[in-house]
Amino acid sequence: MIDLSKLPKDAEEASLAASTVDELVKVQNQFLGKKSELVAAKKALGSIPESERATAGKEINEIRVSIESVIDKRRVEIEDTEWETYFLNDVADLTEVLNPITRGHLHLITQARDQLEDVFVGMGFTVAEGPEVETAWYNFEALNIPDWHPARGNFDTIFVDLGEEEEVMLRSHTSPVQIRTMEEQRPPIYIVAPGRTFRTDSADATHLPAFNQIEGLVIDKGITMGDLAGTIDSFVQAFFGEEVKSRLRPSYFPFTEPSAEFDISRPDGSWLELGGCGMVHPNVLKNCGIDPEEWQGFAFGFGIDRLVSMRYQLDDIRELVLNDARFLRQF
Ligand code: DAH
Repeated sequence: MIDLSKLPKDAEEASLAASTVDELVKVQNQFLGKKSELVAAKKALGSIPESERATAGKEINEIRVSIESVIDKRRVEIEDTEWETYFLNDVADLTEVLNPITRGHLHLITQARDQLEDVFVGMGFTVAEGPEVETAWYNFEALNIPDWHPARGNFDTIFVDLGEEEEVMLRSHTSPVQIRTMEEQRPPIYIVAPGRTFRTDSADATHLPAFNQIEGLVIDKGITMGDLAGTIDSFVQAFFGEEVKSRLRPSYFPFTEPSAEFDISRPDGSWLELGGCGMVHPNVLKNCGIDPEEWQGFAFGFGIDRLVSMRYQLDDIRELVLNDARFLRQF
């Protein structure tokens, strides 16, 4: 009879020496596999006297169980360490911030538009809106620009191919919102209307084919050119600061009489043209069913993009639409 009693101890030592599951499988084969001493002893059972067979068989079983438990215990240990190593070395570190999420902000034009609205709302105006696609009536006719009028040519209009020729267009200014407002509201009216406008201009350092304007309209009793000048002055100071001055220069627009252009002062003492304005033409009031004998008013309109480029001293107005994050992030 082979001496099996030392096997569990030997198996334990061999198991402890194994540091991977593969090595442990070899140990398991050595002590429990087909060619192991234990299996040989089991086979030898047939050749020992029957009276001793049961005791010997029981002993073999107990030894097998204890070898198995030694190996199982070691397997758990090895697996634990292997998992630990795996987690520490091979798994992505979820606490690592690869691409820090940064919070965006409103576009420069939107910021300016909001601030303009705030300034005018502070002066008692409300904000009005109109569609970007307009008919000839709103974009031209009701504004006292009949189809034969040479001023139509100044607007470089982008027409839309919908029905009659030159009937539907992308609005070339925000002035049509004046008409829409007067059609819907009875005076007194105090509104500003910011929005996108379109012309056939090709983009260059000072022009964009799609740009932004803000329109103003006041209709009330006893309104004069002085109210217009005062309003523009207050707005310019609220928006740019106390040191910035404004001035009016005589000009011509079909929808105002008299008409003016307004400029603002630059730090170097020169003037920058910002927009047009004037007293609302009696024909425009009549076109909207308002009696010019009873009501008077003024209107103004200017480019927001231009105002922004003046405020931040931009060299090229196209920066506003290129959407280069390095540029936009600065504001
Ligand atoms: N709509 C004119 C333009 O785009 C600007 C303008 C001039 C608006 C005079 C007005 C105004 O309201 O009174 O060139």
